[in-house]
Amino acid sequence: MRVIICEDYNEMSVRAAKLVACQIAIKPNCVLGLATGSTPIGLYENLIEMERVGEIDFSGVTTFNLDEYYPISPENEQSYRYFMNKRLFSKVNIDIERTHVPNGMTDDPEAECERYEKMIDEAGGIDLQILGIGQNGHIGFNEPDKELAPYTHITDLTPETIFANSRYFESEAEMPKQALTMGVESIFKARKIIILASEGRKAEAVKSMLSDKITPKCPASFLRLHPDVTLICDKQAARLL
Ligand code: F6R
Repeated sequence: MRVIICEDYNEMSVRAAKLVACQIAIKPNCVLGLATGSTPIGLYENLIEMERVGEIDFSGVTTFNLDEYYPISPENEQSYRYFMNKRLFSKVNIDIERTHVPNGMTDDPEAECERYEKMIDEAGGIDLQILGIGQNGHIGFNEPDKELAPYTHITDLTPETIFANSRYFESEAEMPKQALTMGVESIFKARKIIILASEGRKAEAVKSMLSDKITPKCPASFLRLHPDVTLICDKQAARLL
């Protein structure tokens, strides 16, 4: 895994945006795998600005998001579909039909997961996957466990993740306790991966990912087995390395 340690969040976001821009320049009809959460917001802001000044063009790009809460409506401001529309898709020249987020309203989650995985394959697979990392080492919503599900699946969120993410909801009770998420194998099928980490609260997870055993107790540790992964993090997240 390549490791790029940046001065701060801003530099991390700029470095990541340049790599995404290179991907779009090399292959204008590329498939991007995208993440939500607080970490990639700066990356998306940089991409919006790069398109505004004519440095990139999203018109040929297809996207697949890693995950979505379950159950949740796309109109709910905490849904990942809402987040992506607001933070990126409505601000760049992308065809909304080519943006994909698992359907948090489905009444058949297993069928939805199967459909999602198939759509990724039919689009030719993901060229570049963006990831964040949970404080517990999760990627997507692949939570620490005894074993990891390979493909897109429905999963129970851990109490730690419910606690970490409930800050965005009015109350913990309103937060969905399950999610639909790409699996570790779905993520591994991406040709290139960029994982972002910022803030001191991610330092333990970053250290485990890079230097402890490869174990389902730290799902991100499996990324060390992928041939093309770049970690871009700020100094605080790297402070235990
Ligand atoms: C979001 C996702 C999660 C987040 C992780 C970090 O789509 O898949 O794995 O990347 O929980 O979240 P933040 O960036 O909010 O710290």
